[in-house]
Amino acid sequence: MYERVHVIDHPYAQMVLTKIRDKSTGQIEFRKGLVKLGRLLGFEIARTLPVSRCYVVTPLNVEAEGVSIPDIDHVVLVTVLRAAMPLTEGLLKVFPTARQGVVSARRIEETYRGGLEFDIEFTYVRIPPINENEIVIVADPMLATGSTLLRVAQEIQSIGTPKRLIFATVISTRQAIERLLGKYPSAEIFTVAIDRELDSRGYIVPGLGDAGDRAFG
Ligand code: URA
Repeated sequence: MYERVHVIDHPYAQMVLTKIRDKSTGQIEFRKGLVKLGRLLGFEIARTLPVSRCYVVTPLNVEAEGVSIPDIDHVVLVTVLRAAMPLTEGLLKVFPTARQGVVSARRIEETYRGGLEFDIEFTYVRIPPINENEIVIVADPMLATGSTLLRVAQEIQSIGTPKRLIFATVISTRQAIERLLGKYPSAEIFTVAIDRELDSRGYIVPGLGDAGDRAFG
């Protein structure tokens, strides 16, 4: 199962994560940090896409061998509002032609009964058509219980079956990873850290707090 989980252990990504974990980091720096991590997650996802050899002619009129990444233009990016907006901004630097979907999901905190069960309120879902040539990347910074992303995956499956289904997150928990991949074994998770536990309100510990509140005030 864990071969489908990519933890971005690059020191730069870990440095940015450390900065946004810090409770003294303010809103603007927090948001900028999420944008940076979105870009880094995008780079790591791009690393797993097949490359083709290609040739270009440089201004010296000399042919240079290079690579293209055909799938870079076959991405559908789904943003889980609102915390994922800065992450999407970073991912779009790598996948600028991505078609985009948005999902507005809210955990109903009063329904948390411990463990991994949360009721999720979906108020707005707009996902473009998806075909089997496409790579769907779902951006959500906090994979805490998996409740939200299970619902998002269900929405995606009802629209089409992509070539790859990728969840791009900043902090995940082992429990949520197992839950999500248990239900969608061919999905993949790109994350910057796997934290150890959830607190009594379903927040990730040590985590970074409420990502939406910290990014948007
Ligand atoms: N969502 C957040 O923003 N933070 C958590 O710790 C868990 C879910």
